[in-house]
Amino acid sequence: MANVTILDHPLLRHKLTLLRDKETTTTKFRQVAREISMLMAYEVTRDLPLEWIDIETPLEPMRSEYLTGKKLCLVSILRAGNGILEGMLDLVPSARVGHIGLYRDHATLRPVEYYLKLPTDVAERLCILVDPMLATGNSAVAAATRLKEAGVKQMKFVCLLAAPEGVATFTQAHPDVPVYTGALDRQLDGNGYIRPGLGDAGDRFYGTR
Ligand code: URA
Repeated sequence: MANVTILDHPLLRHKLTLLRDKETTTTKFRQVAREISMLMAYEVTRDLPLEWIDIETPLEPMRSEYLTGKKLCLVSILRAGNGILEGMLDLVPSARVGHIGLYRDHATLRPVEYYLKLPTDVAERLCILVDPMLATGNSAVAAATRLKEAGVKQMKFVCLLAAPEGVATFTQAHPDVPVYTGALDRQLDGNGYIRPGLGDAGDRFYGTR
């Protein structure tokens, strides 16, 4: 699938199994999701550019590698996106963070924005848009569109699980935005849930129902 990367690290695959298991408690779900998010941040930042800089170790001068290029901004689609922010911030603590709140209008079934807070220099940053579940893809499409309207030119989308339907919708709308997912599941069901999935990610993060 063009522009879609299914992350295949064994640790990540193992931890996804723990998330999917309905016996996994809220406490454990959060902890494992944090660990997975860190692994995902590691993979998604793999191609960040480096430059050589001059430093001095306690023993001698040397040239060493240092991150260059655009700074990062993590953008969470509320509310479940927040569940994977912390793990990513563990790895890239200097990243700025933005939030986009969207709800589904019952009449039109289209996402409607109710909250938006982005760093003022978001247009100059590489944005990593996060939402645990790429289900219908409608929220992710709307969020990526909103970031482009704010001037963002470089963006990646990261999720724990994706449905083929969501991937198709998103990549059609934003063919320039690479998608990184922990797994590509079988299908979307009639209620908009990813099958086999992990249930409602927000509920599992926050212990609501
Ligand atoms: N959102 C969820 O939390 N779970 C799904 O399966 C689909 C969308």
